[in-house]
Amino acid sequence: MKIAVFAGDGIGPEVTAQALRVLDALPIKVSLLEGDVGGVAYKRHGHPLPEETLVAAREADAILFGAVGDFDCDHLERHLRPEQAILGLRSELGLFANLRPAKVFPGLEHHSALKPEIAGAIDLLIVRELNGDVYFGEKGTRTTADGLREGYDIMSYDESEVRRIAIAGFEAARKRRGMLCSVDKANVLETSQLWRDVVIETHKDYADIELSHMYVDNAAMQLVKSPGQFDVVVTGNLFGDILSDQASMCVGSIGLLASASLGERQTEYGTFGLYEPIHGSAPDIAGRGIANPMATILSLAELLRHSLGQEALAAQVEAAVAGTLADGVMGGDLGGSAGTAEIGDAVLARL
Ligand code: NAD
Ligand code: IPM
Ligand code: MN
Repeated sequence: MKIAVFAGDGIGPEVTAQALRVLDALPIKVSLLEGDVGGVAYKRHGHPLPEETLVAAREADAILFGAVGDFDCDHLERHLRPEQAILGLRSELGLFANLRPAKVFPGLEHHSALKPEIAGAIDLLIVRELNGDVYFGEKGTRTTADGLREGYDIMSYDESEVRRIAIAGFEAARKRRGMLCSVDKANVLETSQLWRDVVIETHKDYADIELSHMYVDNAAMQLVKSPGQFDVVVTGNLFGDILSDQASMCVGSIGLLASASLGERQTEYGTFGLYEPIHGSAPDIAGRGIANPMATILSLAELLRHSLGQEALAAQVEAAVAGTLADGVMGGDLGGSAGTAEIGDAVLARL
């Protein structure tokens, strides 16, 4: 089994190091392929996603990704910015389905930004489309007829892109509580009207799933008011990005939310995928040893589950994380004082 490890920028290497300690403690033999991504790759190779990194990505059974983003690079032309590394991997590798689970760990209800009785009910999965939307449409800047500077980013989805993510949403719902909420802005956007139409058509093959539709503004409100109503939420790239950061604070911290990005490719052991925390490089806390590594450790668990066919090990890692949190070992993001390595130590001790 080969895992490509792309730690990236800021806290990326700090949190990835803890996930690798956990991996090293597991009774499976894997080989690691390291690669540069993001600002660090730009500085070393002149590109945020060097060819040799893509080669390693394609050779691996799965990718463990830290984070990219470096304010020093924000002046660069867009195609050279660190963020292009993750966007490029997602599109080059056809990883269109981004699964972002959000669940309150037992005993952690009081760490949510919501009232504990509301937070305790959270057990949802955001299925975010990852290869389309306003992220990948034509974009640019131009001058209007009046001589004004204008920026534009085209939002679009074709029906095949919607259908495959709708299927991913219905399939996920079937493995959970059987409810799918499709989030869009069909009252205003043509892209969303097509999205809704195709989700309804796809539902014909999933009559056992309870389908509902919600406008994204209402969804943002309902996520705070009564998040327990959601089982699986399927949505586009931009809405999913925003709602998942919001969901993280409903759980307690952005340092707790993992993700799996999957496509169609199967390997010898499972589905090829990229696994990363939903957070970024957190330049404000980078280098201080205080980042929460749980989201990355939980991303490793998702990797074991989906790409390596190691469900039992995935569950063990998740139980070790839950136990560590229940013991009150947590960092500043959750009101505690443990550092990144100390949290890693506690998870290892539990394992
Ligand atoms: P961010 O997620 O990096 O940080 C937002 C806030 O959350 C910060 O205050 C940060 O300190 C905190 N935070 C994030 N992760 C944490 C953790 N593990 N433990 C404790 N606190 C944590 O978002 P941002 O500040 O908007 O972006 C910073 C950079 O990261 C930007 O360059 C952005 O483009 C990039 N980014 C990359 C990814 C990715 O690699 N997939 C995701 C999001 C943002
Ligand atoms: C994420 C990030 C990325 C996104 C950025 C860094 C391109 O916010 O993974 O959630 O918008 O998808
Ligand atoms: Mn994001």
